[in-house]
Amino acid sequence: MSITESENQQILGRADLNDVEAILSVPIVDPTEVEHIVKDNADAIFTWDYSLSRPALRKLYEKAKTGQWNATTDLPWDKDVDLEAEVSKDLAAMASGLTATHYDGTPAEKWGDKEWTDFAMEQRRWSLSQFMHGEQGALLCTAKITETVPWYDAKLYASTQVVDEARHVEVFARYLDEKLGGGYQINAHLRMLLDDIINDSRWDMTYLGMQVMVEGLALAAFGNMYQFVSEPLLKQLLRYVMSDEARHVAFGVLSLQEVYSQMSDKEIKDRQEFAYEASVRMRDRFMSQEVWERMGVNTRDVIPLVLNDPTRAVFQQMLFSKIVPNCKKLGLLDRNDAWLRRRFEEMGVIQFENEVDTGEEYVKFELGEVYEPLS
Ligand SMILES: [Fe+2]
Ligand SMILES: [Fe+2]
Repeated sequence: MSITESENQQILGRADLNDVEAILSVPIVDPTEVEHIVKDNADAIFTWDYSLSRPALRKLYEKAKTGQWNATTDLPWDKDVDLEAEVSKDLAAMASGLTATHYDGTPAEKWGDKEWTDFAMEQRRWSLSQFMHGEQGALLCTAKITETVPWYDAKLYASTQVVDEARHVEVFARYLDEKLGGGYQINAHLRMLLDDIINDSRWDMTYLGMQVMVEGLALAAFGNMYQFVSEPLLKQLLRYVMSDEARHVAFGVLSLQEVYSQMSDKEIKDRQEFAYEASVRMRDRFMSQEVWERMGVNTRDVIPLVLNDPTRAVFQQMLFSKIVPNCKKLGLLDRNDAWLRRRFEEMGVIQFENEVDTGEEYVKFELGEVYEPLS
């Protein structure tokens, strides 16, 4: 085994990043499950230092107070959504995100327009469901950060994020229930990642896992969906959520910059490994096993093809367009002989390292600003 393979074995539980059997060995979550319990292993910390010590966080707190919106009254819920018509319209813009001919040899080879439209409808339900579950993860993580972070300014800010995340769960759950006829259970890889983040006792790991990795990916994924959907309610909902999400990523970057600049190489290595593991879990989740299964396609036949689909690869890479520059800003790419840089090279996402990081970018996402997605 090479060093990389043995590190992968230890961090991911598999030597080969693309080991399909290992990826699929994580069982799909039982769709009838209604509760899932995770130990959060953390101390709640009081601080008696109420002084303004971190002006950048306090500025973010002020922004958060004026950036609040009301999901019930600010979005056009009264309109019906014809999902089939909407995805058919969007298909022209982005197809199903896959190269149809790439799936020859599986049942998808015989799919016509109807089946690809069905697939796109399921994919839409699945994606929004994962956003919803991820939002609940963010709600729990931010409540945890409010307790565990030792800084007063950060506790104030984190409390506003709890409200933001409640609103995000609310809008995705309502959209799925009222407009799409229901959603999917949480993806197995996403659940594993959220469990790991909540389980870790170190307060900065909650930030790194949630604010930098999960929310960094969400910001890119929402931006991508915002560009190709035309349905007005969904579009507006995404725009509103993104205005909050950009602040959340900024909260992670601004807080961790201070902590990571003082950490030893060994401590940083733990963080690099955690960032890598989170990246791989998120990549694994985007293979949407549950959708293929519902469409009657054997996941063992199709996942190797999904891994190598050239259309999907572009989408997959785009998901890391915020994570990589933010990791760079935190000093995680190049410490320990550029350990994380090498991992991101293997994943084919290092090209985003010089994109704008989200430490200041949130201002661009504020409601009232014209949002211009990355080209
Ligand atoms: Fe959120
Ligand atoms: Fe968030």
